Amino acid sequence: MTTTEPARTLQQPTLRLTRRDFPAGFQFGVATSAYQIEGATREDGRGDSIWDTFCREPGRISDGTGGDVACDHYHRWPEDLDLIRSLGVDAYRFSVAWPRVVPTGSGAVNAAGLDFYERLVDGMLERGLRPYATLYHWDLPQPLQDAGGWDNRDTAYRFAEYARAVAERLGNRVASYATLNEPWCSSILSYQIGEHAPGLRDRRAALSAAHHLLLGHGEAIKVLREVVPGVEAGIVLNLNPMYPASQSPEDLKVARQADGEFNRWFLDPILKGEYPADIWENYGADVPPVLAGDLDTIRQPLDFMGVNYYSRGYVSAEGQVKPVGAEYTEMGWEVYPQGLTDLLVRLNTEYTVPPMFITENGAAYPDTLSGESIHDEQRLNYFASHLEAVRQATVQGVDVRGYFAWSLMDNFEWAHGYSKRFGLVYVDYGDQQRTMKDSARAYQALASSEAPAS
Ligand code: FCB
Repeated sequence: MTTTEPARTLQQPTLRLTRRDFPAGFQFGVATSAYQIEGATREDGRGDSIWDTFCREPGRISDGTGGDVACDHYHRWPEDLDLIRSLGVDAYRFSVAWPRVVPTGSGAVNAAGLDFYERLVDGMLERGLRPYATLYHWDLPQPLQDAGGWDNRDTAYRFAEYARAVAERLGNRVASYATLNEPWCSSILSYQIGEHAPGLRDRRAALSAAHHLLLGHGEAIKVLREVVPGVEAGIVLNLNPMYPASQSPEDLKVARQADGEFNRWFLDPILKGEYPADIWENYGADVPPVLAGDLDTIRQPLDFMGVNYYSRGYVSAEGQVKPVGAEYTEMGWEVYPQGLTDLLVRLNTEYTVPPMFITENGAAYPDTLSGESIHDEQRLNYFASHLEAVRQATVQGVDVRGYFAWSLMDNFEWAHGYSKRFGLVYVDYGDQQRTMKDSARAYQALASSEAPAS
């Protein structure tokens, strides 16, 4: 047989993995979030979120931008869904913007906001994509922040009401609901470290925010169970395994503490119904106001836990240190795929975990458009090594059901604005043209490969 297909196809870089390397039914997907891609911040009745406010404050975003246009996904969603479909993936993880649905955070529901997500979800179903919705990816309605934000216990109940409005409209057309994305970021990074909206530096407020986020998670899960019985419901956490720089007692102690603050502070209440005692003690007077019954509300049976993994922590008595010879992404995050296997195995050993999904994993690197192509070899290698790390965990018996690449396309990377590109697909922010990078083509080849028999 002669073929005119040039050698180019043969030279296409690949991930060297196929669906057969993963368990039957394993879902491959791509992920985004509302504020990072939608734009149209003032359309169809959307209210302001804390990110709209934050982006207007001088000095908060490194390139001075915001999400007003972003990837213009609010208008371009049909072509974006076509693009996702063309990748051959099974599922799309997106988030719903609370200020589109309940513009002032409490009270009146904005039907036009729900209409948008209904069109989006139906658009996925028409294209054979499974919708994985996240209810809170950091865009709190500004009026709720004016009343204290997540530091105010009331916000947890407003969140449950908003979850009800979404669930009543979208029902079981959504395959899977996650309540929160990365509560560490929306509490500690936002209220203590001050890098994300609302940009506070107050540990007490941060721990109170974290508690109320978890309470909101528990309340929202109850609502989902009631409104959409049988639907898959869970939460998404960012977990950073912490490695000691040496086996000295000091370094081991610091690593244990860092793990407690970053990981166990969220895992233990959700999966065990308790805060880790060692960290609770360290926090002294800053511990959150936990009322009777809160931890029972927080510890809801879950159908899945989403794990977002980007890197590990490496710590010594001096704090965060850099391992010798390590490789870093453009975010300055170490590339450490072994950490993902270790993390999944550890979760499976130390906790009674529901089935897990990798709900985010990916890397920012500077990309250059050369003609029609972007040769993002480093990103491709990152995906390859981390998918292999997930495979290793499944081989060791961990129940991982899917993997979502972060991100479908370049987008608004929070405090970094548009300066960091995480996409499989390149976005030209001038004309909104989308161009598949080599990593997208490699992921497409994996997702389009023959599935194992179930
Ligand atoms: C995660 C966020 C996601 C994106 C990636 C790079 O913490 O959930 O929105 O910004 O980091």
